[in-house]
Formats: sequence, C-alpha cells, structure tokens
Amino acid sequence: MERLDEQLLDEMTHASRPLRTEFAPNAPRGRVVLVGAGPGDPELITLKAARVLGRADVVVYDHLVSPAVLEYAPQTAARVYVGKERDRHTLPQQEINHLLVALARAGKHVVRLKGGDPFVFGRGGEEMQALAQEGIHCEVIPGITAACGIAAATGVPLTHRDYAHGCVFVTGHLRDGSMDLDWDALARPRQTIVIYMGLRGLAVVAQQLIAHGLAATTPAMVVENGTNPQQRVVTGTLATLPALVEASALRSPALAVVGEVVRCRDAIAAAICDYTMQKAAL
Ligand SMILES: C[S@@+](CC[C@H](N)C(=O)[O-])C[C@H]1O[C@@H](n2cnc3c(N)ncnc32)[C@H](O)[C@@H]1O
Repeated sequence: MERLDEQLLDEMTHASRPLRTEFAPNAPRGRVVLVGAGPGDPELITLKAARVLGRADVVVYDHLVSPAVLEYAPQTAARVYVGKERDRHTLPQQEINHLLVALARAGKHVVRLKGGDPFVFGRGGEEMQALAQEGIHCEVIPGITAACGIAAATGVPLTHRDYAHGCVFVTGHLRDGSMDLDWDALARPRQTIVIYMGLRGLAVVAQQLIAHGLAATTPAMVVENGTNPQQRVVTGTLATLPALVEASALRSPALAVVGEVVRCRDAIAAAICDYTMQKAAL
C-alpha cells in the first residue's frame, strides 16, 4: 500500500483525533464510487462496475464481497478491508465514512465495494450522505441484491402471476430478542417476503407471521451462500423451517424467503442445477 494510504489509515485508527486533510492540498479532487459487488458469483457484477473497479486507486470493501470480484481491480490498487460482519465491525461506520472522505480529499479514485446492492441494507445511503456533506464527488453503481441473485439461483421467482403480485424486503435483525416489523402488513396473502439477516430470528419471524394470519403451511426456504458454489438451500413451511434450518446448521450469509412462490422451486430447480453445473465450461 502506498505511503499516503498508510497515513490515512493511521488517521482512521485514531477516530477521536480530527481528520488531517491538509497533507495533499494541491492533489486533484478524488471521488468515491459506491459499487455493488453482487451476491457472490463474481460474474454477477455489471460491466460498469468492472470498468470502474479496473481504474481504482483504492478499494474499500466489506466481508461479503467475493475475493474474485476484487480481482477486477488493478494489482496496484490498495485494498482496504473494513469488515462489517454482524457484531464484528472492523471499522465503525463513522470511521469508514471518514476514511472515504479522507481518501477522496487526497485525490484518490476510491471504489467502495459492497456485497449485493449498496442501497439495499448496505448503508450506502449513509455513506453517500456523509460524502455529499463534505462536498465529495460520488456515484452509485447498482449491484444484484442477494434476493434477486438467490431467486435466479434457486428457481424461486420473487413474483409470479399465480402466487405473488408483490414482494417486500425486510431485515430480520433481532434487537433485544424481538423485531420491529409491521407484522400485519407482512402477513398478507399473495406476497413474497424476503428476510435479510434473518437467520438468528427465523423462529420469531415464523411465529409472528403465523400469529398475524399466514397459514402455518405457507412454503418457505432459507438459502446460505446463494449463487456461490457452496450454496445450500433448505425448504419447508413456516411451521417446519426453523427446526429444519437448525438441524442443517445453516450459517450466515443466509436469506429467508416466505411465500407461495417457493412452490416453484420443485418445478424449476432441476433446470437451474444443470446450468450451474455447466457454467464453469461456458
Ligand atoms: C448487510 S446485508 C447486505 C445486503 C446486500 N447489500 C444486498 O443487496 O444483498 C447482509 C445480508 O444479506 C444477505 N446476503 C447477502 N449475500 C448473500 C448470499 N450470497 N447468500 C445469502 N444471503 C446473502 C444475508 O441475509 C446477509 O446477512
């Protein structure tokens, strides 16, 4: 990593100190591009994302970013891991914001690489606000969010004229053992519910949806590591899924999908599997 970046990172590890931004006063203005890295399969990023990554001076990335996606950046680009695993943030959000601002002020072309899409449970909005507040040029390149990647990889469409005319994305992150969700709105018929970060709270979600009117027999699934070679899928119903998931010892990253659309999996999955097997040869 270049000397300048080492200096900046050193600054960031001392958050209480004011940012030193004067060391490159005449540097050209840098910019920050928030780039969606997609759900894991390194081919699931946009052409624009690959092009912008190919010109990066610095890539600041989260733990859900597949290592193969980092390969799109030049060898010379500095790679800064900022973590963001649940309960284990390598750098707190505010320090990430400061780091991005400081790198851009130093004239760097910064790619802020995030799993999935930056604006879907990715704190991309917070980072953009922080950059805009400091007058930093910034842009967002969308990515395939986990829900869409997993829908394709499992053969479970998020909407379907026979089963669901709408789809909602929610976070199942538990706070003090409960979730602040609008259960009445979620427990509507003909709607698909996608739950991000919902592994720990799956039993609560299932209980609440049943208590608010969804049939206990509503199909549901959890997908671990979707779109990656090690993808695992567990299907069941609202009543059976929590125990099945526990028995399978599924781990994060995992996404839950609830709704009649999960029925499509049986019909479509065989074709999807064939494609996945052949993909390496394509
Ligand atoms: C902090 S959110 C980030 C979401 C991301 N911005 C997106 O658009 O997909 C992280 C959660 O996304 C879900 N997730 C992301 N990638 C996944 C994958 N490959 N398989 C399953 N779930 C995934 C998991 O629920 C994980 O806990």
